[in-house]
Amino acid sequence: MTLTEIPTKPFLDQKPGTSGLRKKVTVFQQPNYVENFVQSIFDSVEGRQGATLVVGGDGRFFNREVVQTVLKMAAANGFARILIGQCGLLSTPAASCLIRKYKAIGGVILSASHNPGGPDGDFGIKFNVSHGGPAPETFTDAVFKRTQTISSYHIHRASDIDLDVLGETRLGSTVVEVVDSVADYAELMETLVDFDKIAALFASGFRMRFDALSAVTGPYAKAILEGQLGAPAGTVANGEPKPDFGGHHPDPNPVHAHDLMELMLGPNAPDFGAASDGDGDRNMIVAPGLFVTPSDSLAILTAYAHLAPGYAKGLAGVARSMPTSRAADRVAAKLGIRAFETPTGWKFFANLLDAGLVTLCGEESAGTGSNHIREKDGLWAVLLWLNILAELKKPADQVVREHWATYGRDYYARHDYEEIETARADALMAHLRAASPSLPDKTFGGLTVEACDDFAYTDPVDGSLTPQQGIRILFKEDARAVFRLSGTGTSGATLRVYLERFEPDPSRHDLSREDALASVAEAAEAIAQITTHTGRSTPSVIT
Ligand code: G1P
Ligand code: ZN
Repeated sequence: MTLTEIPTKPFLDQKPGTSGLRKKVTVFQQPNYVENFVQSIFDSVEGRQGATLVVGGDGRFFNREVVQTVLKMAAANGFARILIGQCGLLSTPAASCLIRKYKAIGGVILSASHNPGGPDGDFGIKFNVSHGGPAPETFTDAVFKRTQTISSYHIHRASDIDLDVLGETRLGSTVVEVVDSVADYAELMETLVDFDKIAALFASGFRMRFDALSAVTGPYAKAILEGQLGAPAGTVANGEPKPDFGGHHPDPNPVHAHDLMELMLGPNAPDFGAASDGDGDRNMIVAPGLFVTPSDSLAILTAYAHLAPGYAKGLAGVARSMPTSRAADRVAAKLGIRAFETPTGWKFFANLLDAGLVTLCGEESAGTGSNHIREKDGLWAVLLWLNILAELKKPADQVVREHWATYGRDYYARHDYEEIETARADALMAHLRAASPSLPDKTFGGLTVEACDDFAYTDPVDGSLTPQQGIRILFKEDARAVFRLSGTGTSGATLRVYLERFEPDPSRHDLSREDALASVAEAAEAIAQITTHTGRSTPSVIT
């Protein structure tokens, strides 16, 4: 064991976000940067002596190097056993699954999720705690505090572990086990969805395209869809994880998963399309000719989850993040189950799941999950969809249209204004907060404001209050505009504007999203003066 002095401190000038520390690869490549952060994490893990730790990443550039550093530091910090995914790969949901299954004290997950990879891309490090979910703020606060005072780190000097070969080796007295990245996760999936039914669906000629965007889900999707469920070879596209994601931006939305969209909207669309993000926790669902918004997907899964064995007894409740459309609430009301609205970010769901208050949860940003782990889970959502389709024996687009006919359609779009100056973004939010009290009963873009507030959340389990989570403007015409600043960007500020309008009339369910939401967009601009504040007349991305 060696003690090494740290040359510069403090090395972090701001608190890591809710999804850990995300920065450019070049930032992480600075001498001792990774070591300082990892030591700050380990110093904050109470009871690490003799405990089990899970380690893995999404395979992006720098993954292998950092995995080796984490293993050697974990050994020098007293962990008794380390489980590391083969080739250093673990999807975020698989890491969550391993932490829970093997009663680990936590896991170090190397990922910047859906952010681009490669030498000029992003890298990230996050710590998940023993329930398998992201660390709570008390923990990340402690880590940040530690980064301000840390003066040395512990590392076991040894040659690199062979990550490609399964089995146990030792680093000092610590046992390092290279585990199959997929096996435990696949086993868990088999307890939740009916593999035989889905296999029969594929055997009957059902065809799908799963686009792994050259990120971590490839091996999982290939092993489960093509291996266990008998989908034809080639069902999984871009199934080889690559350090630069093969040039893909591994964010599963209609903009970045354009090849899949083109196929699904074209004349030769298979029966079902899906994609996942860099670390495998997000999902995108596309029916032939029809993109399914994540908000609708959550609502549809809520309506039909009982058709899968893992949810046959029904759901305790459903939770959605505040900016997610209210479609799931309508299903919950009909089923007579509880519905929760939480701030953005997965950690708020964890408390509800732990307390048994909800079974499913989801976000508009393509995250859907259930109580099987404490992370969102991309491939799980795809498998649950397949199970539902196998039971309903109806085309996916028909399932979506029938859902709208029953519950009404929530037209939905998110407008992102990326890399705007932080001061300008803050000014826009301050302007909105100041204007809020005077907005009710005023009309903008033909819509009349009914109410507005700055979303604050009281956790029903521990009573903690989380204020200022975004400005919600509710219109009398059953429309909504939400404004918030991203907490995960790595340069400047990102303003997210969420637009939504409810349409109960089935004869109006085939409007284009742009037409259906034009008045909400106009009202949002009039109220927030986005163009003036950001200097942008159009969003960088619409999803
Ligand atoms: C984004 C998404 C949010 C998600 C988070 C982590 O956060 O909007 O739903 O939980 O990434 O994947 P944001 O950048 O909006 O703060
Ligand atoms: Zn992700």
